[in-house]
Amino acid sequence: MKARTLGSAVLAFFLSVGGVWAAESNWPMQPMDPELENLPSLQNGFKLYVNYCIGCHSLQYQRYERTADDLGIPHEVALENLVFTDQKIGDLMTSAMDPEKAKQWFGAPPPDLTMVTRVRSPEWLFNYLKTFYLDDTRPFGVNNGVFANVGMPNVLMHLQGVQELQCDAGEETCTNLVVRAGTGSLSEEEFDTALFDLTNFLHYVAEPDRLTRQRLGVWVLLFLAVLFVVTNLLAREYQKEVKH
Ligand code: HEC
Repeated sequence: MKARTLGSAVLAFFLSVGGVWAAESNWPMQPMDPELENLPSLQNGFKLYVNYCIGCHSLQYQRYERTADDLGIPHEVALENLVFTDQKIGDLMTSAMDPEKAKQWFGAPPPDLTMVTRVRSPEWLFNYLKTFYLDDTRPFGVNNGVFANVGMPNVLMHLQGVQELQCDAGEETCTNLVVRAGTGSLSEEEFDTALFDLTNFLHYVAEPDRLTRQRLGVWVLLFLAVLFVVTNLLAREYQKEVKH
């Protein structure tokens, strides 16, 4: 009986923790289904990450070398185009930002993003990056639909354009975001693709072995299929023997 009470307490705890995450945002989410087999997408995500995110956010468990190998990028190409600091190919993908200073500047230090798609979800990340909008009351002039009052500036604004929340007077749960025409260098579709690639890349980073596992899985299935044919033929041979 005691064990059961403890069990329910533990269950209740996890449910409530889950509830906290789930309740954090009521924003209507656009779906995001990662494609780990899509190497061009992962490569583009890697490129976007080192251009727009690594200045503030480390991937402290991920090495450039492993990333380049997994995504089919030769080391020289990676070093020349994707490593902007004096880091070496074998180094971890850490940010040069001083966490103490970052805390002073942004109010909160930019967290490591290695696990972000597991702690949140790929869908959460995609929608987070898409829903920055103008808000004069915030220190960086922007707020976020999915993560209210976040301390991060809108680093992709020149790609997406200037986004505003347009609400009717008195509307309480307004989620109508509109991009000012001509303010971004990408169309909405192109921007969505960029965010998809970036999210896809971070989904890969959260569990790099998943890529190997999926590829291995295909070979295992192929092997089983061949084995099935062989054992079937063998079984027929045996049956012939038995009949004679
Ligand atoms: C100028 C620094 C800076 C840059 C560049 C930057 N961020 Fe951030 N980011 C922050 C800060 C600061 C926070 C913490 C905000 C808070 O907790 O209020 C944050 C928070 C986040 C979070 C929320 C993490 C969580 O679970 O709480 C995500 C996700 C994120 N950033 C993704 C990105 C991505 C992807 C990029 C690249 C496109 C990026 N950031 C670029 C400063 C930055």
